[in-house]
Amino acid sequence: MNSQPLARGPSRRLMLSRGAAAVGAGTASLLLPRIARAQSGKVRVGFMLPYTGTYAQLGVAIENGVRMAIAEKGGKLGGREIEWFKVDDESEPSKGVENASKLVQRDKVDVLIGTVHSGVQMGIQKVARDSGVLSLIPNAGVHAATRALCAPNVFRTSFTNSQPTLALGKPMMDKGLKRAVWLTWKYAAGDEAFEGFRDSYTQAGGTIVKALGLPFPNVEFQALLTEIASLRPDAVVCFFAGAGAAKFIKDYAAAGLKDKIPLWGSGFLTEGVLDAAGPAAEGIMTTMHYADALDTPRNKQFRTAYAQQFKMQPDVYAVQGYDTGQLLLAGANAVKGDLASKAALHKALETAVIDSPRGKWTMSRAHNPVQDMYLRVVEKGDNKVLGVAAKALADSGAGCRLT
Ligand code: PHB
Repeated sequence: MNSQPLARGPSRRLMLSRGAAAVGAGTASLLLPRIARAQSGKVRVGFMLPYTGTYAQLGVAIENGVRMAIAEKGGKLGGREIEWFKVDDESEPSKGVENASKLVQRDKVDVLIGTVHSGVQMGIQKVARDSGVLSLIPNAGVHAATRALCAPNVFRTSFTNSQPTLALGKPMMDKGLKRAVWLTWKYAAGDEAFEGFRDSYTQAGGTIVKALGLPFPNVEFQALLTEIASLRPDAVVCFFAGAGAAKFIKDYAAAGLKDKIPLWGSGFLTEGVLDAAGPAAEGIMTTMHYADALDTPRNKQFRTAYAQQFKMQPDVYAVQGYDTGQLLLAGANAVKGDLASKAALHKALETAVIDSPRGKWTMSRAHNPVQDMYLRVVEKGDNKVLGVAAKALADSGAGCRLT
């Protein structure tokens, strides 16, 4: 099936671009010329997100957020109507280049919004760098995208994988949790989250007893939980997200560990899963650049509007999508819809101040948010804020050269 432009509005059917690929995978995109786009008519916006698999609900929340931000401002970008395209990336890294090429080469999008999974993001990054098409990252935290492989046309509205976990070490040591076991899915997101945890925790004086892992998106946690019980650490710290996170939280409690060994993590562990996890999630401590219960008029207004529109509660992914929409509006409006004015467009994106439900944030020189990290606890099914764990935290951007 070829992809179709999608009707706008929440009642749209999901028409996903899958199957017959118009563009080959691998290095094909390297050989293709950089794309010159016509700048009249509709702006072509492509979503490349997971709509199936363990991260499916993350993709939906991101798309909702993007659409909501743009709809709030009249539904246009720099005065131009929008034509939407979408591809289900299935969180499948081996199809990353091919799927991004469907949007860029075949659908000729002006903007590619994606994705969630760090491995898939590497495929998008390659296509974005080869084509020069504007690429907005609404979640995936892979370091390279805003470090060694940064690019003038790539902007992230979320985090780097080590950003949330860099805020974990001190509050854990403040609670006297001196020996910890780390546990994650073994791929870039988990491995780079570990770097942030390791650096902050060991610097604060903590000892990592063991780092455990399993392949993404495996959810057979039993053997690992048995090993944790025998290691008897002061705390368990982890990276999981989406449906897998809900299962982990429930399995952790069912194994009898919940009341014995406090569970900590980067905040994705408790995002969008609190209904599914139920009482098993109570008391989990996390650090993250957002919290449901942030007591600001901006956050309250956002949450009310989102819940009304989509009949579900927003989470950090919805916020990141919303901010991606806000960033795109800022850029497109600054160039009056002429997205081919690359220098002016990139400048506007670099200097935007995003008035986010998470709090105001700006872009680092490498195009990643400089933002506060909150310490949170799950209480009565909500991510409550205990305080700011790290103020205006920037990723190092190590190795990024933008000319
Ligand atoms: C990632 O793969 O970069 C990733 C996925 C889900 C998250 C966070 C990071 O919640």
